[in-house]
Amino acid sequence: MNTKTITEILTQEHFSHNDLVTLLSAKGNDIKQIFDKAAEVKQQYIGNKVYLRGLVEYSNKCRKNCLYCGIRAGNNNVSRYTVTDDEVIQAAKYIKELGYGSMVLQSGELMTRNFVDDIERLLIAINKETDYRLGITLSLGEQSEDTYRRWFDAGAQRYLLRIESSTPELYYKLHPNDDTHSYQTRLEAIQTLQKVGYQTGSGVMIGLPFQTLDHLADDLLFLQNIDVDMVGMGPYIEHSDTPLYEYKKLLPSKEERLELSLKMVAILRIMMKDINIAATTALQTIQPDAREKAILVGANIIMPNVTPQSFREQYFLYQNKTVVKDDAFTYHEQLEKNIQAIGCEIGYNAHGNSLHYKNKKNNKMN
Ligand code: 5AD
Ligand code: SF4
Repeated sequence: MNTKTITEILTQEHFSHNDLVTLLSAKGNDIKQIFDKAAEVKQQYIGNKVYLRGLVEYSNKCRKNCLYCGIRAGNNNVSRYTVTDDEVIQAAKYIKELGYGSMVLQSGELMTRNFVDDIERLLIAINKETDYRLGITLSLGEQSEDTYRRWFDAGAQRYLLRIESSTPELYYKLHPNDDTHSYQTRLEAIQTLQKVGYQTGSGVMIGLPFQTLDHLADDLLFLQNIDVDMVGMGPYIEHSDTPLYEYKKLLPSKEERLELSLKMVAILRIMMKDINIAATTALQTIQPDAREKAILVGANIIMPNVTPQSFREQYFLYQNKTVVKDDAFTYHEQLEKNIQAIGCEIGYNAHGNSLHYKNKKNNKMN
């Protein structure tokens, strides 16, 4: 039991597990206090700029069978695609034209030699065709150290690899308990990415079946302890073609998952003042303006989808995922208006690198 009030906790430098559970259980005006504090920290440390990363969902082929994911290998209702090199390069050029400083290349997890070679070749081509102006983030799952190094040397600077849940027991309720889905391997992959030199991002899903506030408090401490530079975390959204769907009845309502996700973003911003935090697409699936809400309470990154239209409906990680039918420019104009309407500004033509990463590097040199 924590006898401290939210006001008392928010004045502290560090939060204990119990403090975090109290913050995560906040209701009504107490939530507002947390959100206000997060907005203040954000303004002070990173300002009101929102950086955009054009997201290309490169392939939905995956060797894994995560129990929550719509494109898991075992789902035969998905037709599998890989975007061609030309299309990726077109997308990259378009991202640059729109003034987005960065792109994200995401796909299911493949470890074949061909896949590793293809990505390496693509990275070199993208950089060349965009005059080395784009920041490139990869989100391509667990790979060997050698692969991570090759892709880093080919010009990727950032890598996202979510831990999904930092509690091994819950992790194995979300993944088959076998060598392909080892918690330990995933954790080590995150550490390898940091060692290789990437700006490294991780994150978790929020509002999962079997998940408690204790788990989420531990997730926040985990992200702080491993000292990530970037975080992407959002609500879990059920998918009927997955084994986890069976536990749908255990889920908090979508509104509760949204509120919990916003609390997680806000609390993390207070804990990790200079990292990049994404306002995720899963948030938007629950409520059209939820990403803007996340920006107001601490997030500073949005990843607009620039996957060629014809593939978008095949990348359903979860049900009702927002499939934007607008062309990228119409979508962009609306997004710019929405961002301005909440008093923020788009950081055009800038990489929007993690300040945390820079600060860590500077501290090491001093
Ligand atoms: N609901 C929410 N997020 C999901 N992801 C995969 N499936 C789901 C789902 N059903 C997230 C995972 C993964 C990222 C690419 O998408 O966190 O790391
Ligand atoms: Fe594959 Fe990623 Fe989905 Fe797991 S979450 S099944 S690794 S695409």
